[in-house]
Parts: sequence; C-alpha cells; structure tokens
Amino acid sequence: MEIVTNSRFNTTLSPTARKEPIGSPVPDFGSVTTDHMFIAEYAEGQWVNARIQPYQNLAMSPSSSVFHYGQAIFEGIKAYKQKDGSVKIFRPEKNWERFNTSAARLSMPDVPRDLFLDSITELVKIENLWVPDEEGSSLYIRPFMIATEELLRVKPSDRFLFMVVLSPSASYYSKPLNILVSDHYSRAAVGGTGFAKAAGNYARAMIGQTEARNQGYDQMLWMEVPDYQYIQESGTMNAFFAIGDKLITPELDGCILDGVTRDSVIQLVRHMGYTVEERKISIGEVEEAYKNGTLKDAFGTGTAASIAPFEKVTNRGFDMILPPVAERPFSPILKDKLDKIKTGEAPDIFNWMVDV
Ligand SMILES: Cc1ncc(COP(=O)(O)O)c(C=O)c1O
Repeated sequence: MEIVTNSRFNTTLSPTARKEPIGSPVPDFGSVTTDHMFIAEYAEGQWVNARIQPYQNLAMSPSSSVFHYGQAIFEGIKAYKQKDGSVKIFRPEKNWERFNTSAARLSMPDVPRDLFLDSITELVKIENLWVPDEEGSSLYIRPFMIATEELLRVKPSDRFLFMVVLSPSASYYSKPLNILVSDHYSRAAVGGTGFAKAAGNYARAMIGQTEARNQGYDQMLWMEVPDYQYIQESGTMNAFFAIGDKLITPELDGCILDGVTRDSVIQLVRHMGYTVEERKISIGEVEEAYKNGTLKDAFGTGTAASIAPFEKVTNRGFDMILPPVAERPFSPILKDKLDKIKTGEAPDIFNWMVDV
C-alpha cells in the first residue's frame, strides 16, 4: 500500500481507491462510504496515533464501554463541489465547537481544534474524486467519538477513538414534509442531553419516527414534556414558523440541538432585514395563526436536508395545510440563498466556507 508523506497525518492509501470522479446517480444519503477513514486514539489523557487509512472494520472487545453505557457522540458536516471545481466545507468550526460541547456533557475528552479540522480537510482532500457535482449533492462528513475502555463497570471511560468517515450524498428530501406532532413520547427534557449530538438521543427518538412513518408522516415534531404544548424540533431538524412577517424558532433551552443550519438561517434572515424571534413557541400559537390566516411558512433546517418545507402539520387530529412552497416568504428564498453560498454561486458574505 502506498504511504503518503505530505499529509499532516500518517497516511496509507488503499490500492483499490476510486480512480475516476464519482458520476451520477449519486448514492442516497449515508448508504456508501469512501475508500479511506481517519482514526485517532485517546489514552492517558492524550490523542495519539492519528492516521488516515483504508476504510476498514474495527476490532473491539465486547467489553468496550460504548456497547454498554453509550458514550458516543457524532457530527454531520458537508463538503461541496464549487462552480470552479474546487471543494469547500460549510462551517466546520461550528461543528467542532458543538462536538466538544457534546463531549463535555457525555464525560468525554475535548478534541483539539486542529485535530478536528485537519482530520476533515486532509481526508476530504484525499477523497476529492468522491465529491459529487450533481445538483443538491455533497460529500457528507461524519466525525464521531466512542468509548473503548474494556470494563463492564459503569464509569466514564478513559480510552476513546475519534474517527471520521465520508459518504457521498444525493439531495436529501425531494418533496415537502408531512409532520406529526408528538403527544406521548419525548426526545429530550431539561437537564438531559438534548443539546448534545449524542447517539442515545437518536436511539430514543426512533420509536417516534417509526410511529410517524406508520401513520403516513415523514417526521415527528418533538414537544416539551410533560405538557406537549411547546415545540422543540422536527425529527433531526430545527423548526421554523413564519407568522405574519416574523420568523419564529424555539430558543436554545438545553433540550434542542444548536443547529449550524439554524444559526445560518437566523443570520441570513436578519441580513435580509426581517425579524427572527428565538423564543418558546406553542403549537396553540401555530394553530391560532393557521386559523386566522397568518401562518405563512413552516420548515425544518439541518445539514442533511438544508431547508425542508413542511406541507402538513397534524396536532391531535387537527391538520394544518401550508401554502404552496413557491408562494412562501422564507423557505424557498432561504434554500436558494444557502445552496448558492455553499456551491460558490453567491458571495460568501459571512465567511462560512472553508477551503480544502
Ligand atoms: C436532533 C437534530 N436537530 C437539529 C439538527 C440540525 O443541525 P445542523 O443544522 O447542525 O445539521 C440535527 C442534525 O443534523 C439533529 O440531529
């Protein structure tokens, strides 16, 4: 196998790695991984043995604490082919900050800024031929950390792995979403891990997602417990509602994820001269607006989907049907603006894009 010497990390290239640019159709989100991965080990208080190697299985003890006590966190980031053929990554520094916020909550170690950002850029550079250029497509970047101490007793692990894998990804959602408002499960509560990108948050939410699917919906809208009055987030996206000419999104109360797309949308909308309110928003307020004709738009935001308009929101049997997407004041405009910044078709006025 070929060893690369000009990388910051020890790098071993796969002899079977892709030789041609990825064409069309681009695989569905998350279904295919690229030829290489990044891996670093944490032991005795230090990150050591950072390397890029051919994508491969891990050999782990069945006693590794991640299997039993769930110290596992991750991130989701995307790299985009630019109009000039170069590749840029959308706001990875925000994901680094959030990764360490998640790590602290789950009693896991910090990953230094350079290790996090360089692992991503070096890996994407090597996997350049995997960055698709079909419309709406991207190379999804999945950094993650797991606990590997071999011990069946409950305690914070003292050994970890930090890894990065990549997956070429076609455009995520094609049609507006039907949303079911949760009335008995919860995704997160005060004092818990809702603000962290912890694997366990996704495990506990799957049952709600399945229930929504079984009833013909695309996603569940998670609500604050125990009253199911206040909105948290939609599936794995932050939620926005336009009432009159104002955009409203739930505040960061420790129960919802501090979405990078959410933050980007707030900045864009304020830059466009509109008001965004980050505050508690009840489903009753949304229903009231629907009934009096002031509910103009509703959508989710996330790295996977970018901006995903809601078509129907159902709360305890009451259906709210949103206006046709083309007539809405925010979601189509924001999607267009955000997508163009990501692909270099519009100026990067907020300095969000990072060169590879
Ligand atoms: C629970 C949850 N909320 C919101 C988001 C949106 O966050 P971001 O815009 O950083 O992708 C995600 C992830 O992508 C998520 O998993």
